[in-house]
Amino acid sequence: MSIVLKKISKSYDGRAVLKNLNLEINQGEFHVLLGPSGGGKTTTLFVMAGLTKQDSGSVSIDGRDVSNLSPDKRRIGFVFQDHALFPHLTVFDNVAYGLKVRRINGHEMTRKVEYYLSKVSIAKEKGKFPHQLSGGQKQRVALARALVIEPEILLMDEPMSSLDAMTKETVRDELKSIQQEIGVTTVYVTHDQNEAILLGDRVSVLNNGRVEQIESPSELFHHPKTEFVARFVGIKNILKVSLIKINNHEATVQINNDGMEHPFRIRVKKYPVFEKGKKINLCIHPEKITLKREEETYAGDLNRIRGKIVKRTNNGNGFIAIVDIGGTTLHAAISSDFKVHENVWVCFAPDAPHPLCGKKCREPEQRRKCLNNIE
Ligand SMILES: Nc1ncnc2c1ncn2[C@@H]1O[C@H](COP(=O)(O)OP(=O)(O)O)[C@@H](O)[C@H]1O
Ligand SMILES: [Mg+2]
Repeated sequence: MSIVLKKISKSYDGRAVLKNLNLEINQGEFHVLLGPSGGGKTTTLFVMAGLTKQDSGSVSIDGRDVSNLSPDKRRIGFVFQDHALFPHLTVFDNVAYGLKVRRINGHEMTRKVEYYLSKVSIAKEKGKFPHQLSGGQKQRVALARALVIEPEILLMDEPMSSLDAMTKETVRDELKSIQQEIGVTTVYVTHDQNEAILLGDRVSVLNNGRVEQIESPSELFHHPKTEFVARFVGIKNILKVSLIKINNHEATVQINNDGMEHPFRIRVKKYPVFEKGKKINLCIHPEKITLKREEETYAGDLNRIRGKIVKRTNNGNGFIAIVDIGGTTLHAAISSDFKVHENVWVCFAPDAPHPLCGKKCREPEQRRKCLNNIE
């Protein structure tokens, strides 16, 4: 089932939480709503489910306006952030609850409960009460309880937030494969970019009551549209530049990041968004930066910036040096032989920085859509 939210607004005590929010979720997709705490993610899910009534705007499921339907008429399974299991009911009865409410009893009820308990690998615990379960087990029960009514839509609100890293990984992988198997349209809320990247077919980034960008996880990472999205998906190197000079293929820009002691100029590829005097955000991936020692640089390096390594970290794929270039820092992927406190030159090609434009890559990789006209 597809879900369409159109111009949803919601205020609490005069404070706008959702501001004309538009969102389209495709049939069968695993859609992740990603955003910081307080951004309106839970409110968005509650509006979809009918648990919160929006002030204005509409919710449609499969083309049908459900704005005035109560939650039980929307065929939605909901997994709450704190699991919200009934403490006085066993695992079996927690899962059976939604079926009993829908007057499905007896043999069919038992069959369905048993089926979903085993699907989420919790059948052995069916006689236990919630307080006798681990966090991961409670999560599985909550998932079985949402799935047993065979919903058209599954909504999940930060379901993994209370789990340890190992359990999270297992439950996450299982969740993804169950979702793929049954094909239920899923909206999954998280503030964790890794979860979003690993789970989502598409990800919407929610900021301040609006969707800032909707994209596949890899496009979101490589082509964030705004500084907020870029920072949220973990992009560290953002250069705030103003344009000084433009010629046919290249532009000279001045870096003006906050705190810079001496703004300086670099040469970058000319992108269509460039207009003289305009301020633009460029991002540059750590892999596109080369650190060189004094004797290794030469005048042919078009962009050379003096810097000092202030920190070295390992991001799981290799070493990253954090280099102070005079009031701001850049992250550069390095081989391990650079040391903290070493003076280096930060070098990169003119086509390494590219604008936060939100445009998709074209093949081959260098021919980015940023090179075409941008609306
Ligand atoms: N029932 C409510 N009454 C008053 N304020 C609320 C209510 N629900 C949410 N809010 C406020 O709305 C904002 C967004 O909340 P929420 O949707 O829970 O964000 P998120 O899930 O992204 O953390 C927060 O500032 C929160 O305090
Ligand atoms: Mg929330």
